[in-house]
Formats: sequence, C-alpha cells, structure tokens
Amino acid sequence: MSKNGATPDETLEKRLPLLDAVPKTIPRYANTLWYGLGGFTLLAFFLLVASGVWMVAAGMDWVHTSAWGHYVHAVHFWSAQAFMLFLLLHFLRVFFTGAYRKPREFTWMTGVLLMIMAIITGLMGYITRADWSAQWHAFEAKDLLNAAHIGGLVNVLNYQLVFALHTAAIPLVMIALMAVHFILVRLHGVARPY
Ligand code: HEM
Ligand code: HEM
Repeated sequence: MSKNGATPDETLEKRLPLLDAVPKTIPRYANTLWYGLGGFTLLAFFLLVASGVWMVAAGMDWVHTSAWGHYVHAVHFWSAQAFMLFLLLHFLRVFFTGAYRKPREFTWMTGVLLMIMAIITGLMGYITRADWSAQWHAFEAKDLLNAAHIGGLVNVLNYQLVFALHTAAIPLVMIALMAVHFILVRLHGVARPY
C-alpha cells in the first residue's frame, strides 16, 4: 500500500499504461500451445539477439577459439534452428485456423515480410561462417540473384556487407516489423478459429 492507498500494482499501471500491452485474460480456444507458437518464436529471437550481440562484442577470434565462444556460437546456432521451426509452426497455426482473414490481412502481411527477412538473415548468418560450404552457398546465392537481374543490388560474396546485414540491418528491420505485428495482434485480439 502506498500513501494514496493504491497497491504498488495499481501505481505502476497508472504510470505505465504499456502494461496493457499484454492481455489479462485469453479466450479458452486460444489457451493451447498452438497459440503460443508466436511467443516461442519471439523467445528464440531474443536468444538470437542476445547470443549474437555477445559474439559481436567479444569478437570473432574469441568465438572461434575459446570454449565460451564455441558455447555462445552453439546457443546462436540452435536458437536459429528453434526460431525457424517455431516460425514455420506459427505460420501453419495461423493458416489452418484461418486467422489471416478479414480484418487481419495486415497482420498476415507483416508476418510474410518477417518470414522473408528471417530466411534472408538465416542465409546471411550461415554465409558469415566463411567455410567451404558457406562459400559455396554464397556462390549459389550470387548465381540466383544474377539470374533474377538483381545481382548488382547486393554482393553476397562481400563478407563485411553480409556480416553487417546479418548482425544489424536485417534484425533491426525485423524488430520494427515485429512491433507493428504485435500492435496489430493486440488491436484485433486473437481470431476465432473456423
Ligand atoms: C533472426 C535473427 C537471426 C538468425 C535467424 C540468425 C542465424 C544465424 C545462423 C544460422 C548463423 C550460422 C551459425 C552456424 O552455422 O555456425 C549465424 C551466425 C552468426 N550470427 Fe546470427 N542470426 C540472427 C541474428 C543475429 C544477430 C542480431 C546478431 C548480432 C548482433 C548475429 C550475429 C551472428 C554472428 C556473430 C554469427 C557467427 C558468424 C561466424 O560463425 O563466424 N546474428 N546466425
Ligand atoms: C518473427 C516472426 C513472428 C513472430 C515473432 C510472431 C509473433 C506473433 C504472436 C506472439 C502472435 C500472437 C498469437 C500467437 O502467438 O499465435 C502472432 C499472431 C499472428 N501472426 Fe505472427 N509472428 C511471426 C511471424 C508470422 C508469420 C510468418 C505470419 C504469417 C505469414 C504471421 C501471421 C500472424 C497472424 C495473422 C496473427 C494473428 C493470429 C490471430 O489473431 O489468431 N506471423 N504472431
């Protein structure tokens, strides 16, 4: 109890209305793991950013030569696998419950953009390994971009460029898209299944 009789909870809520960002109740049909997959995707993304920033801050030599470096790299690798898996399952959940229907078209579209960004940054992350397999994938990607006549737009054989895209540019765009995605989800509420 504070001086004005409000519980600490109420005091916080008045000053931080953002607490409404998370719903207090959820519909019964949404109370399953299937409807948690978007949240799992987000959790995996947090892990990716945390381990990724750690690696960048500590430096690539540290990542490739020390035991801790290998560990954080492994956390990043497995978070990336989990992220992609949850993303795919979330996509399937949304598709099969028909949650893309009117009026949630824009939620779906921000989702599609997120998936495209995720695939691109996943490839860029793999390319930054710079081993033979990664270099081969970079060449394949280069061929593909050239065939699509957009090879001049981005040179995937440029390590620094790919590294910057992977560690900063694309994740920042993804964070902005996620903000829009979540605001839309909250404004519409969770869709009723068919
Ligand atoms: C959606 C977000 C992300 C995805 C899907 C992703 C995925 C990946 C993947 C698949 C790899 C290759 C791992 C391997 O095969 O060994 C990788 C490596 C890496 N990522 Fe990410 N990543 C993401 C975000 C980030 C962020 C935000 C940062 C840093 C700020 C970051 C920094 C790194 C670094 C430093 C490497 C290691 C490169 C190397 O082995 O030399 N990543 N990432
Ligand atoms: C980084 C990727 C993504 C994250 C973090 C994310 C996160 C979320 C979260 C937390 C929700 C709330 C309900 C739930 O979890 O099921 C949600 C709902 C939704 N998501 Fe995603 N999502 C992502 C990608 C996608 C993709 C790829 C699509 C489809 C192409 C999509 C379409 C939707 C739609 C239509 C809803 C509303 C569902 C409803 O009202 O029942 N999202 N998303």
